[in-house]
Amino acid sequence: MKRIGVLTSGGDGPGLNPCIRAVTRTAISYGMEVLGIERGYAGLIGNDVIPLNARAVGGIIGRGGTFLGTSRSPEFKTLHGQREALRNLNRNNLDGLVVIGGNGSLTGAAALYEQGFPVVGVPATIDNDVGGTDIAIGVDTALNTILDAIDKIKDTASSHQRAFLIEVMGRDSGYLALMGGVAGGAELILVPEVETPLEAVAQGLVNAYIRGKAHCIVVVAEGYKPGTQAIAAYLKERKEELGFGVRVTVLGHVQRGGAPSAFDRLLATRLGAAAVIELKEGRAGNVVGLVGSEIKLTPLAEAPSKPKRFDMNLYKLAKIMEK
Ligand code: ADP
Ligand code: F6P
Repeated sequence: MKRIGVLTSGGDGPGLNPCIRAVTRTAISYGMEVLGIERGYAGLIGNDVIPLNARAVGGIIGRGGTFLGTSRSPEFKTLHGQREALRNLNRNNLDGLVVIGGNGSLTGAAALYEQGFPVVGVPATIDNDVGGTDIAIGVDTALNTILDAIDKIKDTASSHQRAFLIEVMGRDSGYLALMGGVAGGAELILVPEVETPLEAVAQGLVNAYIRGKAHCIVVVAEGYKPGTQAIAAYLKERKEELGFGVRVTVLGHVQRGGAPSAFDRLLATRLGAAAVIELKEGRAGNVVGLVGSEIKLTPLAEAPSKPKRFDMNLYKLAKIMEK
């Protein structure tokens, strides 16, 4: 393995830069050359590449986002797009590729591998919905951003005796809402994995009021149905019965930015280095992940679609804590 490529794809998140840095510097330490592919699969199809050396990745360990850029590329989902990508990988004399991204990106990586190109995947998504790792790059920082927001909203909620619906990201996963809700001391957590009717949400507010709480924090996963605005409309219609006034805060893309936490920098560094070692050892076709305290391999064909078990015990604990 003489020359490898690295790209970041899909939704960005904190920790992508330290991962690119780790891939580059590990590869250089084994005498390999590194090409950075810009804007994920779109850049691979467009052949937008830049040589990376140790200095090119200097000063980025603490920076959010990805200096290579990222994208969602519908073209790459087609066989034609994948053929263009393979053509450019070969045109640049690349012997291997590290794909850093979420489950869509890793599904794309599996497609390249199935067509004969050596690829290793690194799970990076704030949603934490990729199999093969307990935690993906970006999750820890996003959770800390959510906690910062919950703490601040609690201040104003208590001053005004209000209930706040705080919507967090996660696509179809309630992971961020559950973890953020428990760590933030929420009164109610609404996730797609557990059906909670609107009447139960209203009752949750009433219960919090009766218990004498000064606020009621409801953390809502973006994937919860019927959705944050529908809950808000339902609650506002019943304002007189609830005790609390209701406000909504959608945290949105603030969760994807910011300096990566210590945990994310370390995870990104370990997984980026592990991905390169896999390529060097000729073991392509896997996702590298953190399982327990060890780095483990899961086939690219399995990891993106492997469902992550929802932590029902923690959800039950949240119910005790909200009292
Ligand atoms: P994430 O990687 O964060 O989950 P997406 O789901 O948007 O983000 O996927 C990122 C990109 O990965 C897509 O824009 C597409 O180029 C590629 N991709 C997603 N799903 C597939 C698929 N089934 N086959 C091939 N490529 C895919
Ligand atoms: O996958 C990461 C994520 O932030 C999801 O939580 C969210 O549903 C989606 O990406 C938002 O995508 P976009 O940045 O394209 O609006």
